Amino acid sequence: MRRSSLVVVANRLPLDDNAAPDGACEWRRSPGGLTGALHTILQQAPATWVGWGGGQAPGPRLPTVGNVRLRPVALTADEQRGYYEGFANSTLWPLYHDAVQQPVFQREWWDTYRAVNQRFAEAAAEVAGRHAAVWVQDYHLQLVPRMLRELRPDLLIGFFMHIPFPPPELFMQLPRRVELLHGMLGADLVGFQREQAAHNLAQLAQKLLGAETGDHAIHVGGRTVRTGAFPVSIDVAEMAALAARPDVVAHAGKLRHDLGESKRVLLSVDRLDYTKGIEHRLTAYRELLRDGHVKVRDTVLVQVAVPSRERVESYRDLRDRIEGEVGRINGEYGRVGEPAIHYLNQPFDRAQLAALYRTADVMVVTPLRDGMNLVAKEFVAAREDGSGALVLSEFAGAAAELSTAFLVNPHDLDGLKQTLMRALEADPADLRARMSGMRRHLTEHDIYAWARAYLTALDQTGRLAQRLPQ
Ligand code: ADP
Ligand code: F6P
Repeated sequence: MRRSSLVVVANRLPLDDNAAPDGACEWRRSPGGLTGALHTILQQAPATWVGWGGGQAPGPRLPTVGNVRLRPVALTADEQRGYYEGFANSTLWPLYHDAVQQPVFQREWWDTYRAVNQRFAEAAAEVAGRHAAVWVQDYHLQLVPRMLRELRPDLLIGFFMHIPFPPPELFMQLPRRVELLHGMLGADLVGFQREQAAHNLAQLAQKLLGAETGDHAIHVGGRTVRTGAFPVSIDVAEMAALAARPDVVAHAGKLRHDLGESKRVLLSVDRLDYTKGIEHRLTAYRELLRDGHVKVRDTVLVQVAVPSRERVESYRDLRDRIEGEVGRINGEYGRVGEPAIHYLNQPFDRAQLAALYRTADVMVVTPLRDGMNLVAKEFVAAREDGSGALVLSEFAGAAAELSTAFLVNPHDLDGLKQTLMRALEADPADLRARMSGMRRHLTEHDIYAWARAYLTALDQTGRLAQRLPQ
């Protein structure tokens, strides 16, 4: 077996095995920020990607994706329940997102989480060459850095948390908080989306492990773990080129025609997740319709909500509530052939998303808490003519960078309504100025800049970062 000098370990492979209509296995790019981001970078840098294929078995045959060899990790149905649906997505996910949904603590999930993390660590140890760099991703695999260090002390180990890392008062609720901290601190470098998260980790390491901390450094167990903020991004040039492609422009024209040439189009694109603030947004929109600030004949909302984690009860309940509310709003305010909201609960390919981004007058991205939110960045990258408004939650990591968006607190319903109206009625020159600030920022801070910054910090010799386009 060939071993790699760069190994990425993430819960998911960049592909999902989806059953095609004829029952055959079909590989499809998995939705979600993490896979999209890494998929792009690794096209340019030979590596091995260790991850789960989405189904119960590795699947019939995994294709190679560009330069990337895929090393699947199989999960049984019980492991999916305990590790993925349970500890990762019913305990850690809600807790790390400000507990906007009550986290569930079930003792038996922990053993499965630990066993699956061990399997990922063993798979990484097997494919990593001597002194290779292994880059472990996200909250699903928080124990892997330490496990991997025990198996392979020669490796350079990085860990990156794509989602928020909570303040001590929330993290302290976790029954297995000490093990989780030790797990992450097995890495040489722990990266976050925001500086505050690195600060939270340092405070927790002091409090729970008695560690000494310095500037972006935690001294623990005779080692120094470095920390830092590395806000993730997108392939800006790729999205801009896609949005300018003639077929995408034509598709956007058709969408606009179908929605109503003279109408103002509000657009939201989310995974169907309770962190994304979809219910708050629908309430705000219903009240705008009720109060006559917007009318079905002049404005329309398109809500794309791609199905996500549907085996987790809280996600199924959320979907029922959202669909009930969309039905109520359309029932009350829609007209024949003219719904108030177009609701699309389906995956789209990149070109379809780019066409939607081109069509919107106002992009509404209002999560209650989000590590970054790449949809906001994709929208900005797609608007080459500099038009369009972005309404962005202060609680998305992206707000720290896209500061000329219409920033909003999505918990404040009146504030949200006012901000939507400000964006709908803004002067085009103001919109252009705001958009140009955001586009300038993104051009310099694209996905390659993110990977370069992280990999340079991980391997200070610069060897890893050299593999990426300059
Ligand atoms: P998260 O990582 O929580 O899913 P992000 O906004 O960071 O949130 O990333 C979401 C990613 O999923 C984006 O790249 C977006 O283009 C993609 N995506 C969102 N909706 C869909 C959809 N309906 N079909 C396919 N991809 C989608
Ligand atoms: O970082 C957030 C995250 O969990 C990513 O790992 C993934 O890209 C996205 O959300 C989608 O979630 P899932 O892999 O559970 O479908």
